[in-house]
Parts: sequence; structure tokens; C-alpha cells
Amino acid sequence: MADADIVVIGLDELPGVVDLFNEVFRPPRDQAFLERRLAGKVNPLILLARVERQPVGFALGYELKPSTFYCWLIGVVPDYRRAGIASQLMGALVALAAESGYKLVRFECFNRQRPMLHLAIKQGYNVVGVRYDSDTGDNLLILELDVSDLRH
Ligand SMILES: CC(C)(COP(=O)(O)OP(=O)(O)OC[C@H]1O[C@@H](n2cnc3c(N)ncnc32)[C@H](O)[C@@H]1OP(=O)(O)O)[C@@H](O)C(=O)NCCC(=O)NCCS
Repeated sequence: MADADIVVIGLDELPGVVDLFNEVFRPPRDQAFLERRLAGKVNPLILLARVERQPVGFALGYELKPSTFYCWLIGVVPDYRRAGIASQLMGALVALAAESGYKLVRFECFNRQRPMLHLAIKQGYNVVGVRYDSDTGDNLLILELDVSDLRH
């Protein structure tokens, strides 16, 4: 297990997240792409995972509606996968969402994103729906976790 440090970072540190994004996702995107998606959102959240101070993963989220916090993206660079880092990121995001008073954490993923589906099922998420994504012409699975019991 990698035992990463999970830290909340600000929008000013987004350039480092763009580098991570482009190591994980295709097509590559620029800072403006991430900024635009987070702009104007309630409770935008950027989590960074570091191992020995090196950034190795990230998660981005924001409020979807008052009951629901949306995890938009989560990624871990290939060399650090299967070491529990995404689990740590998800755990931190869930804890923060619960503390902020949300009932549900939601994310969406394609059927082909099998590692994410495995991770989500392992963490107790339910598949609650499917929606057609006109950008990709593919279906997205909608997954949710009830976090209301995690509030302290
Ligand atoms: C999905 C992703 C974030 C998982 O990151 P990770 O740090 O490797 O995940 P973890 O090590 O926390 O995995 C936890 C559990 O999830 C499951 N899992 C993760 N990757 C898996 C894989 N490739 N195959 C099967 N199960 C997998 C396992 O149950 C794993 O526990 P185990 O290793 O003890 O068996 C990473 O694979 C990734 O960045 N993928 C590309 C981006 C992506 O698809 N993001 C999701 C959509 S936004």
C-alpha cells in the first residue's frame, strides 16, 4: 500500500493537476478546460494525492445539488495504480462531503472504465441509473453512495 498524503489544494495549483490529468486521460486538456468546469460551482474540491511529495493522483468534485456532491474525475498515474491511492482519494472526498452535510456522493463512468467500476463496487456504491452521453455517443453508469451516516 502506498499510503499517500491526500491534500486539498486551491485553484492556483490547478496547473499541476492538468499535468496529472494528461497522464491519465485522453484527449489531453488544458487548464482552461478544468477551470471552466469548476467555475461558478458551489464547493469546488480539488484533492491531490502525493507519495514522497510527488503528485500521483487527483480527484475533482463539486456540488451537483444541495443533497449531492459530484465526483467529476478521479485519476491515478499508471505506475502507482493498485496501491490504494484512488481508494484514499475517494475516502477523503466522501468524508469531506459527509462533513459538509451532503447525503449522497455521485459519480458517473463508462462501462469500459472497469477499474473504476470495481473500485466503486468495493467501496459500496450502488448503480442508480444510466444516461446517454451525447458527447461520446456512449452510455454512462450513474453510481451513488449514501454518506449521511458518516457525519460526526
Ligand atoms: C480507476 C483508478 C482511479 C483506480 O486507481 P487505483 O489507485 O489503482 O485504485 P485502488 O488501488 O484504490 O483500487 C482499489 C480497488 O479497486 C479495484 N480495482 C482497481 N483497479 C482495478 C483493476 N484494474 N482491475 C480490477 N479491480 C481494480 C480493486 O478491488 C482494488 O482493490 P485491490 O487492489 O485490493 O484488489 C485508476 O485505474 C485510473 O486512474 N484509471 C484511469 C482513469 C479513470 O478511468 N478514472 C475513472 C473515471 S473518472
